[in-house]
Amino acid sequence: MRSYKIGVIKGDGIGPEIVDEAIKVLDAVASVEQINFDYEEFLLGGAAIDETGVPLPEETIQGVKKVDAVLFGAIGGPKWDTLERHLRPESGLLGLRKAMGTFANLRPATVYDELINASTLKPEVVKGVDIMVVRELTGGIYFGQPREYGEEKAYNTMVYTRPEVERIAKVAFEIAMKRDKRVCSVDKANVLEVSQFWRDIVEEVHRDYPEVELSHMYVDNAAMQLIRDPKQFDVILTGNIFGDILSDAASMLSGSIGLLPSASTGEGVGLFEPIHGSAPDIAGQGIANPIATIASASMMLRYALGEESAADRIDTAIKKALAEGYRTQDIAAFDAKEVVSTSEMGSIIADYAAK
Ligand code: NAD
Ligand code: IPM
Ligand code: MN
Repeated sequence: MRSYKIGVIKGDGIGPEIVDEAIKVLDAVASVEQINFDYEEFLLGGAAIDETGVPLPEETIQGVKKVDAVLFGAIGGPKWDTLERHLRPESGLLGLRKAMGTFANLRPATVYDELINASTLKPEVVKGVDIMVVRELTGGIYFGQPREYGEEKAYNTMVYTRPEVERIAKVAFEIAMKRDKRVCSVDKANVLEVSQFWRDIVEEVHRDYPEVELSHMYVDNAAMQLIRDPKQFDVILTGNIFGDILSDAASMLSGSIGLLPSASTGEGVGLFEPIHGSAPDIAGQGIANPIATIASASMMLRYALGEESAADRIDTAIKKALAEGYRTQDIAAFDAKEVVSTSEMGSIIADYAAK
């Protein structure tokens, strides 16, 4: 029996609802794969503020260093939006990513054949889309100093250092080597010095990967091209803020932001999280799509724990649930045989995963 310690951060809004379903599915595969999971919960975001007064308690920072991987839901909500910035849930998440050194956020945007009609785009445009967005996660304008919010002016600083760009570029090229060997680096080098620097260093790192085809694209064009012809992309390499925006856009190729998982990896323990937020507008209604979080648990098994067979089970179970016509509301507009709740979807996927 293989045994793993899993840190669990449920967070706010739909966070607890979707993480509970991912755990249900993990437990289902554990029983058939001879794996034992020990879960330890940590506080982050609004839930942490309510309990301890700060969005990122010291126990969370220390605790996540001692587990094999962390599964995370989402944080944030209107209740905490008026707090001072450093006390807001989002600052807690950014602090956690920094503390864990998870500089590489891998956001796969794939289209399930079963959901080909769920996208707002035409089936022929999205069928077969398989993009990996490699988003730099612990630098750029999110973290740059100085920053200020004043009476007369406010500013942030977009900064990247050589080692920061080198390491994320390497991640993108390594991933591309295992895929279609194409990297498109997205920046705003026609306007920003920091983007020209990014582009120069990506070119340098590329010299070690001659088999990979490298292209560069401005972010405004990239947003348009993602919608016009998404199949032109294999790996998209980009900075923190551009990756945030482009991955939300890419989610609509698949049909819903509730489908896209991610893996935040880097220096140590990895953080596995859906790309979406805490969806306060639908929290507590039992209608959130848990698939992004369940697929994040699958990425955790594959990338952090090396449990390929268990991960395959989950991915197959998700496809089976969709093939059988089970849909949460966000993807119910087309082809639904049955519209199900968050927990029903979790149970259906768990049942298939255990077979
Ligand atoms: P959001 O991603 O939470 O929601 C955007 C829209 O997508 C909403 O209409 C929501 O109902 C829908 N949606 C999101 N996830 C869904 C799911 N699993 N199933 C069905 N529908 C889903 O973004 P927002 O509304 O801009 O932000 C809400 C809060 O979440 C804010 O406080 C924001 O800062 C926070 N946020 C947190 C994270 C994170 O924790 N990683 C990510 C993004 C936003
Ligand atoms: C995400 C979110 C976060 C980000 C926020 C909540 C800090 O939008 O995980 O995509 O911008 O990285
Ligand atoms: Mn985001």
